[in-house]
Amino acid sequence: MSFSCIRLSKICFLLSVIVCVVLLLLIPRFQASWRSRSYPQPRLPLLLNVSSKNDTLLQVESSSTDRLDDETNNIVPLMKEDLVKQWNNYVIDTRRSKLKANDKMNGSPINQFNSMMEDHIEPTRVTAKEKLEQNDVFIAVKTTRKYHKTRLNLLFQTWISQAKELTFIFTDWEDGELRLRAGDRVINTNCSAVHTRQALCCKMSVEYDKFLESGRKWFCHVDDDNYVNVKNLLNLLSAFSHSQDVYIGRPSLDHPIEAADHVRNDGSATAKFWFATGGAGFCISRGLALKMSPWASLGSFISTAERIRLPDDCTIGYIIEGLLEVKLLHSPLFHSHLENLQRLHGDTVLKQITLSYGGPENKRNVVTVDEVFSVQQDPTRFKSVHCLLHPDTLWCPPLMVK
Ligand SMILES: *[C@@H]1O[C@H](CO)[C@@H](O)[C@H](O)[C@H]1NC(C)=O
Ligand SMILES: *[C@@H]1O[C@H](CO)[C@@H](O)[C@H](O)[C@H]1NC(C)=O
Repeated sequence: MSFSCIRLSKICFLLSVIVCVVLLLLIPRFQASWRSRSYPQPRLPLLLNVSSKNDTLLQVESSSTDRLDDETNNIVPLMKEDLVKQWNNYVIDTRRSKLKANDKMNGSPINQFNSMMEDHIEPTRVTAKEKLEQNDVFIAVKTTRKYHKTRLNLLFQTWISQAKELTFIFTDWEDGELRLRAGDRVINTNCSAVHTRQALCCKMSVEYDKFLESGRKWFCHVDDDNYVNVKNLLNLLSAFSHSQDVYIGRPSLDHPIEAADHVRNDGSATAKFWFATGGAGFCISRGLALKMSPWASLGSFISTAERIRLPDDCTIGYIIEGLLEVKLLHSPLFHSHLENLQRLHGDTVLKQITLSYGGPENKRNVVTVDEVFSVQQDPTRFKSVHCLLHPDTLWCPPLMVK
């Protein structure tokens, strides 16, 4: 009797030792899985390494983000999942790049930044091919109340008539006539109509959010004085995969811009980056647009722009080249009114992706094309270009010789 009792307590003792050992072995696993689940959230403050001084500012921003978050949860639950997944990849990448950059902490801040960027120049793989339909692309046309009747009408008559599926008009005023014409393709941003940095960034921010909502593969931004050759645009974009990181457009300067970096530090170091000029139009792949979301979605674009105090198109370049370390693909096929457009003539004009024209102060800065219409009838040359590209358009002169 007493023998079996001792045996029993021995067995109990052995069993409890085994349980303890198993538990001890499991603890590191629990820790590991806990750590990976508590990965940083896509929140501005965590990322930007901002000092506690600016807590109040950031709290205001986060709370407004929360409110909007609920809205997107309802609209696009799938997209958000997608977004968080992309985001996690991105965090891992950045962490690695930070480590790399820290290895070379010597020299001036600019040198540090440059060497960090050099580490990340990967040759863009232009091998992937993707067949694109019109509704894979989202073209945001930025306009303002003042130009609904003039600039925008010309676009509706010309290229937009061939691209109804792709085009979304972003303006700052509810215009009944425009609404009748383009329905829910007109987005009243409720942004101010003045031509200030803040108002322009406000519109870009809405364009970006609407693009993410749309679920389309490519985001392109153009101004209301751009002609878009949609066929050429689709050709260009189909050379890439929309899940790659692609940012393509015309740099507005022949050198990268340098700006005080108020996002990653207190502004004492500078960021050097290229940006595509908004006036010539530019495109961003969905893969890349999703990675931009911590600095661009749901109003954070406006606060990013405020921090670096730069216009909308520069801010896009800053987020992509400066923060995400993805290179702008320089394309000569996009054109703004700031260039000498007269240099473009003949068939070359028809091979471009975007065109533009000089404003009232520079009326002669237009592309040189065959006279389908005289310069008096067609001062911007857009109608002539359109008839050369689409001779079957109703209002084009019949029997055109191309
Ligand atoms: C933090 O706030 C100070 C003033 O309170 C400002 O000068 C500085 O630019 C801010 N930094 C960031 C990263 O916003
Ligand atoms: C602008 O305001 C109108 C009316 O309040 C609203 O219906 C619309 O959704 C707003 N636009 C945006 C982009 O928030």
